[in-house]
Amino acid sequence: MSQKYGDGCPFSSESAADGNLTYNDYLKVPELLNLQTPQSEPAHHDELLFIIIHQSYELWFKLILHELENAISYMAKDKVLRAHHFVNRVVQIQKLLVSQIHILETMSPVEFLEFRDRLMPASGFQSTQFREVEFIAGIKDERYLSFFKDRPELMKKLRKRFDGKDLRLAYYEMLNRLGFSFPKEATDLQKENESLELQEKVIHAIKPIYEEPDSNPHLPLFLLSESLLEFDQYLGLWREHHVRVVERVIGFKKGSGGSSGVGYLKSTTSKKAFPALWLLRTYLEKRSD
Ligand code: HEM
Repeated sequence: MSQKYGDGCPFSSESAADGNLTYNDYLKVPELLNLQTPQSEPAHHDELLFIIIHQSYELWFKLILHELENAISYMAKDKVLRAHHFVNRVVQIQKLLVSQIHILETMSPVEFLEFRDRLMPASGFQSTQFREVEFIAGIKDERYLSFFKDRPELMKKLRKRFDGKDLRLAYYEMLNRLGFSFPKEATDLQKENESLELQEKVIHAIKPIYEEPDSNPHLPLFLLSESLLEFDQYLGLWREHHVRVVERVIGFKKGSGGSSGVGYLKSTTSKKAFPALWLLRTYLEKRSD
């Protein structure tokens, strides 16, 4: 008997005829394709690109939060490799997010200006999920909550994320439980950033993991530490690529959210969730034979 096209595919048209689940129903494709509403009138050709690129980022942010919550709960159970597995998945997504921003460079500066006014005062500052990604990483700056003061439901969501467990805390608490002890105040990012002495105490505690990554139980911790550093690296790279694209498209014009634009964005590129993991490299030496 010849094989029919679609045999074995869970979304084959045969299932649809049976009243079973179809691809479009399962993924809600018609609903999804109905969610792009240009503000320009008549709709500017490039606004669809602008909307779709932002919507795709928001979908990926949703998944990133989902995966990082999982990584945190594995760290709370000292399941180091499982946590690494999910952080690494996030890193693969981030690689896509860094390159995706450049699609916007196919839009000329004047073309963007032709519909930019219609978007005011909407701004990336109002991306609740981006801020949640920072908060879940441990980069917590309360001042950003003010952008949501008129939206109590979003404020509540963000406040919960602000007060909730983050990657940094989960990682540091796990290391302490596993015998790599350092002062508790190091879990506070601001304190760690402000004190070289504190950073050095963390580095001193976790340096053995980097000096002897192959020895047990270091290898899983080495892999997790490197994936956390990579997460930090790609978040920073996204910021750098975003600011370059912004400069290319709007130059030094002010941001729609009221910031100075490029100047403000440049100031965020040095943000890190794991400064000690970065600094640690400076303190390493080659192994003796
Ligand atoms: C032509 C394209 C873009 C321009 C001109 C642009 C411009 C800007 C500017 C000027 C800011 C500073 C805040 C303000 O005053 O509004 C900003 C922030 C932001 N943008 Fe964009 N942006 C673009 C594309 C994107 C895309 C595709 C995303 C994807 C999610 C994005 C997400 C964000 C986020 C999350 C912030 C807040 C960053 C922070 O506070 O650290 N932007 N953008």
